[in-house]
Amino acid sequence: MAVKIDGTALAAKVKHQVAAEAAALSRRPGLAVVLVGEDPASKVYVAGKERDCAECGIESFGYRLPADTGEKDLLDLIRQLNGDGRVDGILVQLPLPGHLHAETVIHAIAPDKDVDCFHPFNVGRLVTGDPVFLPCTPAGVMEMLDEYAVPIRGKRCVVLGRSNIVGKPMAALLTQRDGTVTVCHSRTEDMAHYTREADLLVSAVGKTKLVTPDMVKAGAVVIDVAMNRDENGRLCGDVDFAAVEPKASYITPVPGGVGPMTRAMLMRNILTAAQNHQA
Ligand code: GUN
Repeated sequence: MAVKIDGTALAAKVKHQVAAEAAALSRRPGLAVVLVGEDPASKVYVAGKERDCAECGIESFGYRLPADTGEKDLLDLIRQLNGDGRVDGILVQLPLPGHLHAETVIHAIAPDKDVDCFHPFNVGRLVTGDPVFLPCTPAGVMEMLDEYAVPIRGKRCVVLGRSNIVGKPMAALLTQRDGTVTVCHSRTEDMAHYTREADLLVSAVGKTKLVTPDMVKAGAVVIDVAMNRDENGRLCGDVDFAAVEPKASYITPVPGGVGPMTRAMLMRNILTAAQNHQA
């Protein structure tokens, strides 16, 4: 039976550290949270991030904009926040309504306030190995692997999914730590051929029961980044947890795995931004 990686407990530990360091600053760190529209899942995520801020002694400034907000108005708000000395980090919750281009909006965020690590400046710094911020979800995964002393150097790491938010930066972080990384995606032929060889398997696709036991090497470490709903409406990941757990050495549950860690790493990035601003 695999060891279940407890993301909730580790996230609490990280947030505790962030709170202690935030308290030592001369000014409270601040996060601006921008939510455009009424997406129910986004509302839940944003509320969670604001709760985390409160726990960590970080001030949050919420901006709720109607779904039909024009691009110019949103960009004006971001420019205003770029110049606001109380605001160390700016988070624009994705996805945006269809008429707004995420890329344009992300590019407008000042790189020193880009606590999601989405701006090309920060993505470039990450890929060249000189990061300012770490992308929240991949950094949360690395933190879990380190906490449980999972070796990465020289190991075969397979990442499922190639999104800008998770798959690509996950591959960059694992490469930085000397993993041998393969990225599989929706056009990969015979995905199982790659996953069966993986010492470390990270799934970030968004497809319930994508990862079945026949795809997993005995003793592999299995990290499930996805947040899906099963046929009964219950939260689940990409991995068929009950079937894969007996075969893995370590595995993350959904919920209670990567999700809380993503939020904790956001808090760490806000602290980093505040430290840089106050240095
Ligand atoms: N939507 C889903 N995940 C994220 C995230 O990490 N940051 C933002 N801003 N939006 C998201």
